[in-house]
Amino acid sequence: MPTTENRSRDRSHDRSVDVELRPYAPADFDIIYQIDQACYEPRIAYSRTELRQYLRFPGADCVVAEAKQLNSAEATPQNSAKTTHKFSAEAAHQKSAGAADSANAAPALVGFCITAHRGPWGYIITMDVLAAYRRDGVGSLLLTEAERRMVSRGVREIGLETATDNSAAIAFWQKHGYRKSGVRKNYYPGGRDAYSMAKRLAAVQSAANGK
Ligand SMILES: CC(C)(COP(=O)(O)OP(=O)(O)OC[C@H]1O[C@@H](n2cnc3c(N)ncnc32)[C@H](O)[C@@H]1OP(=O)(O)O)[C@@H](O)C(=O)NCCC(=O)NCCS
Repeated sequence: MPTTENRSRDRSHDRSVDVELRPYAPADFDIIYQIDQACYEPRIAYSRTELRQYLRFPGADCVVAEAKQLNSAEATPQNSAKTTHKFSAEAAHQKSAGAADSANAAPALVGFCITAHRGPWGYIITMDVLAAYRRDGVGSLLLTEAERRMVSRGVREIGLETATDNSAAIAFWQKHGYRKSGVRKNYYPGGRDAYSMAKRLAAVQSAANGK
């Protein structure tokens, strides 16, 4: 997965977007596809076919984060990144709306997480948060809910792969108790290596209790 720049961030501002988590619905397909395209470089982002296959995987589950409201700070022109991104997310959704009833308010999805499990083994297929909504806890909310849903289905250990040069993702997974368990050479198209990372249920439970 692509390199994501480590960046410091002004933590003094209030969270500028409220998100609500809910299970994926088929009407979300086009927008999660567009979010994935925005989150990864073209050869790593999933094709529509791949994304559909993962969503239909045995034991697959998907949670989406929908922006429910924007506070007044976000509506100001000074906050251009967030405002711009709000419009991007809405535009992306409108493109996807297609056959949807245009009279209905379009949900503004800002991220999603696809998982799969078989017996006690869970796997995180992908975790995507739109760039302008990162470092606001959206990924953590998605992960906590995805883990909760897997644990409720009997999962005892969760694994994933992440690119060895994706420092943001590595920091994110480590913050949530995932530990490197090996390197998979040439894991990604283009030859990029991946770390295998995993977390046991006990850690899942403590992380959930700690939030
Ligand atoms: C990885 C990703 C999902 C994180 O989502 P997010 O909403 O920004 O995550 P959170 O705000 O919940 O971050 C939780 C913690 O993870 C760590 N973290 C997240 N992004 C980081 C970054 N860029 N640099 C350093 N640490 C980071 C921090 O410890 C952070 O806590 P803090 O903000 O209080 O310091 C997001 O960056 C993303 O979608 N990246 C592109 C797709 C991707 O690489 N997905 C993972 C593939 S395996």
